[in-house]
Amino acid sequence: MKRSIILLADYMNDLRRFKRHSAFGKTAGTVPALLEARLMIAAHGLEKALSFRGFEPRRAKAKLANTLKLMGQHRRLGLPEDATAMRMAQDAVANYRRVHDEAGIDISDLLPETDGLDDPATAEIARSVRQVGPDALTADERAALIKGLNTRASIREYGEDPIDPETVRQVVRDSLATPSVCNRQGFRVHATLDPKVIRTALGHQNGNSGFGDRVPGLFIVTCSMTIFSTSSERNQAFVDGGLFSMSLMLSLHAHGFGACPLNWSASYRQDNALRAAVSIPDDEVVIMMISFGPLAEDTKAAGSRRYALDHVLKDLEART
Ligand SMILES: Cc1cc2nc3c(=O)[nH]c(=O)nc-3n(C[C@H](O)[C@H](O)[C@H](O)COP(=O)(O)O)c2cc1C
Repeated sequence: MKRSIILLADYMNDLRRFKRHSAFGKTAGTVPALLEARLMIAAHGLEKALSFRGFEPRRAKAKLANTLKLMGQHRRLGLPEDATAMRMAQDAVANYRRVHDEAGIDISDLLPETDGLDDPATAEIARSVRQVGPDALTADERAALIKGLNTRASIREYGEDPIDPETVRQVVRDSLATPSVCNRQGFRVHATLDPKVIRTALGHQNGNSGFGDRVPGLFIVTCSMTIFSTSSERNQAFVDGGLFSMSLMLSLHAHGFGACPLNWSASYRQDNALRAAVSIPDDEVVIMMISFGPLAEDTKAAGSRRYALDHVLKDLEART
């Protein structure tokens, strides 16, 4: 009974936070973060249509109209023209125009000249569709990537070399290609190299005993809820934030750091205590922490034996 009450209290807290901070039941025209997300979804729909091999002229009209409508709302709210979602929309619309211009097809009824597009420079257009053929990676690059995947390990003790904050920025930059639902990119990472802040944050985390006092760098990975608008998206923050966490760990590995994911399976009281102690915005869900630091000559990792492939890989079959 007592355990059920604890479970209920944690669920109620999740529910309260999702209702307060997500876009559930809110109108896009009045909430900038939601409008930004909607514009991104619309622009992404358009750029996706344009990336298909069989794209036919004058297709995706509804997607184009929706993107243009949301671009108008974005402007009416006074949001910046260089906001990422707006740039994405401009790229997609410019590419739509280019495809039709090249085919000599008139689309002035769909896309008036006065659509307020920025300079549709070719560099921008190129961003709306990327070329990713079989040569995207050379054989050596593929081998290096596979080696990277197989050699990452949870590293809990670190070397003494100083950490250059610019390298940490590069680690995060190299994680930005993480996929997310409709490319909404709700993930965030709060980083510190300050021993005092690290001690404060790790003081709220359960899994760092035996090494937490010697951690030189710490990430707290979060995901904003403001961009999720339906009940079915209530757990999406964990998916997008989890994927971003994996990218960060692989990026840390690629940049020569050791790193350890640190669980944030926290009760609502523990979660609130962390929020009171460090600067995590209230609309963000904490996904996990990641400790990191330089590798040392004598760095070891736990063996962490894996199940055999057949334990994990199953044939998917239709039930009927
Ligand atoms: C979400 C998550 C939370 C984790 N939390 C902790 C933790 O709190 N403390 C810890 O020492 N290791 C933690 N780990 C590391 C796991 O123990 C480790 O990933 C697992 O044993 C496999 O080992 P490997 O990462 O070296 O391959 C966590 C891993 C994940 C994915």
